[in-house]
Amino acid sequence: MIMFPTKITVLRRMLQSRHCSPLLGKARFSRLVLGIETSCDDTGAAVLDETGQILGESLHSQTEVHLRTGGIIPPVAQQLHRENIERVVQEALERSNVEPSQLSAVATTVKPGMALSLGIGLDFSRRLVRQHNKPFIPIHHMEAHALTVRMLHPVAFPFLVLLVSGGHSLLAVARGVDDFLLLGQSLDVAPGDALDKVARRLSLTKHPQCSTMSGGQAIELLAKDGDRMKFPLTTPMGKTHDCSFSFSGLRNQVTMMIMKKEAEEGIEEGTLLSCVNDIAAATQHTVATHLSKRTHRAILFCKANNLLLSSNPTLVVSGGVASNQYIRKTLSFIAEREGLSMLCPPAKFCTDNGVMIAWNGVERLREGIGILPPNVDVCYEPKAPLGVDMTEEVRAAGIRLPRVKIEISS
Ligand code: KG4
Ligand code: ZN
Repeated sequence: MIMFPTKITVLRRMLQSRHCSPLLGKARFSRLVLGIETSCDDTGAAVLDETGQILGESLHSQTEVHLRTGGIIPPVAQQLHRENIERVVQEALERSNVEPSQLSAVATTVKPGMALSLGIGLDFSRRLVRQHNKPFIPIHHMEAHALTVRMLHPVAFPFLVLLVSGGHSLLAVARGVDDFLLLGQSLDVAPGDALDKVARRLSLTKHPQCSTMSGGQAIELLAKDGDRMKFPLTTPMGKTHDCSFSFSGLRNQVTMMIMKKEAEEGIEEGTLLSCVNDIAAATQHTVATHLSKRTHRAILFCKANNLLLSSNPTLVVSGGVASNQYIRKTLSFIAEREGLSMLCPPAKFCTDNGVMIAWNGVERLREGIGILPPNVDVCYEPKAPLGVDMTEEVRAAGIRLPRVKIEISS
């Protein structure tokens, strides 16, 4: 049985709390949505009103634990979600000065993601909506990443979106709240996963500046002082003219390079190499180049097929890897060259959080899409494609890219 604080306890805590909502005491006319995220290694919750205003949020990140164990171990992630979900949801509600009875709906990530992690969020939400008799809105994690930008900017459909995280790499056209065309996705691992594994192989948690950072963050930081030209890497999939991605070959290339360097320096695996900055810079540059080439082709495909708005066509970049400034600059160079505006949510909204899930719930509530009664049985889906698969059409178009020399200021 999930125990939620009584009205009096909530009020008392509100008055003591530094996170008190400015709306305290004022009448609220807007509908309120609680969003819950547990698809991977972040336990997140947030309450948004119908206008997209964040009333309160809470996030528990497991990054530190997984860095210690050398990667995400699903049962460990599940246990951490189990230990934190009630507190995180309570915090989000308290910071919003909202009681469960005041919610219009609960929106929760049910796909795609790690089964054991998804299950914790779904079970918790199922009990919560039944206890308080609230509508339930199941959320697709990637759709939520794709639409977060609309909470911050008035971006009209259709727009092109590149989602790059630890679990995904895909290009899609967002045509509506539940209407997506998939142009391409990773054939193997996601860029964040490749960066995390390179960082682990380089033992970057032993680096004094990076001990608590995710692999991607550590690579970005170290790359600032590195020379990417010292370790030339081959950009993946140079000979395929579609929008698919591949990062496992790049990871292997970097691993070979690290092994060669370790042999040259006479050091064991697990010791920091003297050239970590240069390796980080080369890896980051190659990821950025691969992402920008595929995105460039997606832009040309969209133009050829009139898939974007003719006035102010837009590229949205989101997901954990999109918080990387070097990658952003590389992509914005391409977007600008092709006459698209590029938008990225700020870093805190690019990584997993409850806000993006609540926002997707708000968008669905506004349009009346996918809102279920409290007692309907919903299952989680670890694998769930995004939208209509157009990858074959993109491949068949075989679009060749013009030669582009990307110039970005560091
Ligand atoms: O979206 P996210 O929080 O979770 C997933 O759904 O995967 O993304 C996490 C991923 C991790 O692989 C992490 O290394 C990567 O995003 N990441 C970055 C940066 N910050 C996080 N990659 C490159 N540069 C960054 N600054
Ligand atoms: Zn994510």
